[in-house]
Amino acid sequence: MAAAKSFITLLLFISLLSLASCLSSASETKFKANVTVSNGLAFGFYAFVCPQVEILVRNHLLQVFNRDVGQAAGILRLHAHDCFVQGCDGSILLDRSVERTELPNLSLRPESIQVIDTLRQIVHSQCGPVVSCSDLLTLAARDSVFFTSGFDYAVPLGRRDGVVFPRPGQTFEDLIAPNAKTTEVLTKYARKGLNLVDAVALSGAHSIGIAHCSSFSERIFPNRDPTMEISFFNSLRQVCPAPNANGIASLDIRSPFRFDNFYFIDLMNRQGVFTSDQDLFEDLRTRPTVITFAASQPLFFSSFAVAMTKMGSVEVLTGAQGEIRARCNVRNSDVNDLEPVVEKDIASSSAM
Ligand code: HEM
Repeated sequence: MAAAKSFITLLLFISLLSLASCLSSASETKFKANVTVSNGLAFGFYAFVCPQVEILVRNHLLQVFNRDVGQAAGILRLHAHDCFVQGCDGSILLDRSVERTELPNLSLRPESIQVIDTLRQIVHSQCGPVVSCSDLLTLAARDSVFFTSGFDYAVPLGRRDGVVFPRPGQTFEDLIAPNAKTTEVLTKYARKGLNLVDAVALSGAHSIGIAHCSSFSERIFPNRDPTMEISFFNSLRQVCPAPNANGIASLDIRSPFRFDNFYFIDLMNRQGVFTSDQDLFEDLRTRPTVITFAASQPLFFSSFAVAMTKMGSVEVLTGAQGEIRARCNVRNSDVNDLEPVVEKDIASSSAM
């Protein structure tokens, strides 16, 4: 544990050094994915109205991740869950959105949602309410990768925040369950305009973060999934001695806090946590891509940046669509609704 902590400190220190050099040379050092950017999104979108937005986000996240590097995984996942359901419109940040109450989103980290609103407060206090919450989430997801890997890529911005809640059940339709096989994974990615290479690269996000027993218990109970290596099975059984246990397992056994290509090496050793992970190696359509990424981290990183740029463009609102939220967790039209409640709460708590 102590070794893990000093490793994280070292990684954050290295990231800090890179941060200093990045800030001085702006976006030239960043990898830029060669993909067609959605209409209305642009690199350097805030250059005139909030040129310091990326620096403000990065500075704050450095402090957040120094306290709890797990937030990097939480934010990266939050961005994916936002984009897959009704596009990258920040709807996942809304307290009143039904999507937050549905099973696939119950294990999102509440603190990660809070971090995005803190970023909004910092950025809006310097620039005014000109940067959307969905863009702040996109930037924060990029920086989650940067701080845990050192790899930096440019993201096009200009998303507007959604004003419509997703339908009940939409999360089940759009998000992928951990017990999904590759055919379902590829089908659901394809619906969002993402191809096989994108699907494998994005699964590489499971290079950081954790899973609760309930997400993989069917692979270890009642018996070992035959596509799982035995010593890995034993280690998962230790953290989850019963199907409903409260334990957690790292998604990448080799380097749980570092974003790298070891996740693909895990898969080749049959040490992927979810069926949706492991089946990418078992399925002969995706296996060659898994092997390629296991052999070349630079190729994985560049493919990941391409796939993230594509995912970050899914069904985005731009131009005059949507709004720039004054608070990330509430639609502007609902702020007035909430105000009396908030005031009443403050009044009643101070009366006690
Ligand atoms: C086949 C597609 C995917 C499936 C089935 C899937 C499923 C899951 C599940 C079940 C968890 C753990 C929930 C828990 O038990 O706490 C998880 C965690 C995570 N996922 Fe995915 N995911 C997929 C795609 C993605 C994508 C596209 C990203 C980001 C680009 C992503 C990033 C993450 C991260 C970083 C975590 C760890 C979160 C944390 O530590 O809080 N996942 N995923």
